[in-house]
Amino acid sequence: MRKVTFSVLAGTFAIALLATSCKKEDEMTPTPSPTPSLYTRLGGDGAITAVTDQFIQNVLADPTIADNFAATGADPYRFQLFRERLIDQLCAATGGPYTYKGANMYDAHHNMNITDAEFNSLVAALVAALDQFNVPDAEQNELLGILGPMQTDIVGH
Ligand code: HEM
Repeated sequence: MRKVTFSVLAGTFAIALLATSCKKEDEMTPTPSPTPSLYTRLGGDGAITAVTDQFIQNVLADPTIADNFAATGADPYRFQLFRERLIDQLCAATGGPYTYKGANMYDAHHNMNITDAEFNSLVAALVAALDQFNVPDAEQNELLGILGPMQTDIVGH
């Protein structure tokens, strides 16, 4: 009698085990891993530095905005600081392990009377740099989506 009870119990346990361990195929689909940060998808420090250098070259080659950077370009120390702050800002804003330590966008552009047209020229110089490095449209749009809202702090004062 005891033996019967034991084997009935063991059988029930085995069925329960099978029922829980044999999942349907669709239940076994692995959880998708989270999308890497934009910083990572752009290629991290090295790629962002290379794009920024190209971006600055494009800005300096654009006659509609080159003059805005004449004083910056004429002073190597000032130019280097500007370049490093721009790289830091782009790395931080895209989710990289950095803190941007420069001025906020309102203070950095105060008294420059930057126009919407100048802002658009600078964005075009950035897009050209991103194209030169074959950055896909999705990442370009994501970056522009981060920088676009800065326009109100940068333009018109
Ligand atoms: C999304 C657009 C822009 C971003 C992200 C940006 C970013 C920056 C950053 C990070 C700095 C350095 C701030 C610091 O020194 O603490 C800076 C400075 C400056 N920006 Fe912009 N900027 C933008 C648009 C513009 C535009 C449209 C112009 C003019 C056409 C402009 C002209 C300047 C100038 C002249 C400086 C001072 C550089 C120096 O220190 O000599 N910026 N900007």
